[in-house]
Amino acid sequence: MTGRQDRTCGASSGRPASFPPRLRTPARSDNGVRDGRDVTFAPVLTETHSTTDHAQAMSEKAKIILEGKTYELPVIVGSEGEKAIDISRLREESGYITLDLGYKNTGATTSAITFLDGEEGILHYRGYPIEQLAEKSTFLEVAYLLLHGDLPNKRQMEEFQGNIRYHSLVHEDLKRFFEFFPNNAHPMGILSAMVNSLSTFYPKSQDPHRPMKDRERTIFRLIAKMPTLAAISYKNNLGHPYMYPSNKLSYVDNFLYMMFGLPTEEYHVDPVVSDALNKLLILHADHEQNCSASTVRMVGSSQANLYSAVSAGIAALWGPLHGGANQEVIEMLETIRNDGGDIQKWVNKAKDKNDPFRLFGFGHRVYKNFDPRARIIKKACDDVLGKLGVSDPVLDIAKQLEEIALKDDYFVSRKLYPNVDFYSGIIYRAIGIPTRMFTVMFAMGRLPGWIAQWKEMVENKEPIGRPRQIYTGITKRDYVPMKDRP
Ligand code: CMC
Repeated sequence: MTGRQDRTCGASSGRPASFPPRLRTPARSDNGVRDGRDVTFAPVLTETHSTTDHAQAMSEKAKIILEGKTYELPVIVGSEGEKAIDISRLREESGYITLDLGYKNTGATTSAITFLDGEEGILHYRGYPIEQLAEKSTFLEVAYLLLHGDLPNKRQMEEFQGNIRYHSLVHEDLKRFFEFFPNNAHPMGILSAMVNSLSTFYPKSQDPHRPMKDRERTIFRLIAKMPTLAAISYKNNLGHPYMYPSNKLSYVDNFLYMMFGLPTEEYHVDPVVSDALNKLLILHADHEQNCSASTVRMVGSSQANLYSAVSAGIAALWGPLHGGANQEVIEMLETIRNDGGDIQKWVNKAKDKNDPFRLFGFGHRVYKNFDPRARIIKKACDDVLGKLGVSDPVLDIAKQLEEIALKDDYFVSRKLYPNVDFYSGIIYRAIGIPTRMFTVMFAMGRLPGWIAQWKEMVENKEPIGRPRQIYTGITKRDYVPMKDRP
């Protein structure tokens, strides 16, 4: 299955008969290579409402006095009552900039996609509470919601699913790239590289002025190919043959099939596993202006193509302080277990400022009460392990760790609570996902959010992201020839 015999990417193999394309363009890909995938369905990704509609200027003004002169700055308020001081003209008028390391108090944009209130533990996608979406929706429906702003009706959902299914194959040449990564290559490094590589197979994606329907095709391709690339990176690591996508399956089931199926065996997706993964992907689908989403917007703001912007987002997510924390959590829990299970010892290490160890899966830049995603995942953890009949000793360690930390003044006074990554790894493990693939799961879940953030940035015609700085280096000096240097 890994060979190059199917140069057409098996165009006839997956597309459901019930989903005929409305419009057929010549069967050539962007780079002129025939790949049988260049079919456009009726556009379904419409422009979303302007995100600034609900950000209103207040009559109240902020006043700032600098060198005896008073400057009045507009105050704006968002649809959920969040307030901001608009400093966009401050430097022009006063010569001053603001300084905010880590952007702890800086709004980089107005956005209509996700609302979160860290003090109250609230998370909404397009107004819908995360608890309701996790309970009732599907990952692809949430992807549609994030991209469009509203839930789809039946016809819109079928079209959206059909468009994504249709692009699930990856070009046969792309698969050969996998052969050149070292055997133990981390799948996040592979995923970031492969997503960036898609831009070379679809060079029209590099044109920032393409019409909407061409941008849509890039979006469909990216959502469709991400699970295929993720599964190939896993199979490659095992030395197993790659599985072609099966387009009769749902998005999540197809991913599980490509991960765990073998060409020699029948593979039936366990609905418990499928439901658990669906829920986890929904919970990860967007989280407003976090490190990786800001990276995607920042890279995209230079008008780099979407594949490259998302590839940069994957790299940002990989870090252990962001999405990489889910891998760190399981490794930490295993280390505690193998060390004899003395949880207090590890809590003390996390509190020790001379020790670099942190409790992974604890703390959040925005949530200062509880992370609503963590609550849902903790409950799902018990449900899924119970239904699968799996008993995982690290779940007990995790629960004890949480209990001890939540009574400890160090964590209480700093408002450090379990975050989305604390329990998610235990579910991934129970459903058979290997530890090094955990952050890849996070990336698959976050993909629609990254794309929605990118799309909003493009539609809002936001300027290139370019922060300023306060220079603290050496002031002007003259060049010294080598012979005169000490
Ligand atoms: N263990 C021990 N101490 C901690 C932890 C932790 N996990 N998190 C924060 N602190 C301490 C930190 O040392 C600091 O103490 P002090 O005030 O004495 O200097 C205080 O709490 C504030 O922390 P911070 O690092 O200034 O807070 P931040 O907003 O810059 O960082 C964070 C947020 C998530 C990076 C951090 O809490 C952390 O490193 N957590 C562990 C990694 C982790 O679980 N990341 C996943 C985040 S959720 C998934 C996602 O969306 O990315």
